[in-house]
Amino acid sequence: MKGIVLAGGYGTRLLPLTKVTNKHLLPVYDRPMVYYPLQTLADAGIREIMVVTGGNNAGDFLTLLGNGKEFGLKELAYAYQEGAGGIAQALSLAEDFADGEPICVILGDNLIQGSIAKARRDFDQQGEGAKILLKQVPDPERFGVPTLKGKQVVGIEEKPKRPKSNYAVIGIYFYDAAVFDIVKTLKPSKRGELEITDVNNAYIRMGTMTAEVLKGWWTDAGTIESLHRASNLVARSR
Ligand code: G1P
Repeated sequence: MKGIVLAGGYGTRLLPLTKVTNKHLLPVYDRPMVYYPLQTLADAGIREIMVVTGGNNAGDFLTLLGNGKEFGLKELAYAYQEGAGGIAQALSLAEDFADGEPICVILGDNLIQGSIAKARRDFDQQGEGAKILLKQVPDPERFGVPTLKGKQVVGIEEKPKRPKSNYAVIGIYFYDAAVFDIVKTLKPSKRGELEITDVNNAYIRMGTMTAEVLKGWWTDAGTIESLHRASNLVARSR
């Protein structure tokens, strides 16, 4: 399995913090934000990782992370996303890197307390399709929200005004190699982006999507409030 960290976008919800740097280079407690998703993948035994980034500060990722030795990686690759075409568009840049292997995609502003090692093993066993991770949240309207029938996810809505559950689809996704063909069929959403939620709904329609509830805390760090929360959660768990 290969890993992909998506660290592009303009980080407009964090202005002016993101005026002269990339969101994923901002500090979360005592480390740059991107360290956390990289560590999450490395802890799940994923040793070949690609960071997809963009904007004016892409070179800083190389200065910061180098060849990934600090994380015990075999390979750390980089891709450059022009503009901000969305998560699914960023993912499409990793097709050659993935080279037909299953992938674990993590959004560069998603931090977790625990591990995805078990979810990774479960997906290895599953052998095809996709797996998403869910977490109960007080503000589901900020996220992708699953519609549940028992334990089964029957659909996902992106930032719904009236959420159909109080779960968020967190920004860690397992996919088989078909994901790149699915991305090619997507149309831009209302916000002009190729949405990861549309990728996940395609797998749900094919009947090959599974979901697990993540243990331990999870947070994104893409708004001032959640960036602050992320620092506090990390500080408390040290
Ligand atoms: C993205 C996804 C959303 C997901 C969230 C997790 O939203 O589109 O489905 O729940 O990440 O952090 P964004 O924060 O990019 O708007």
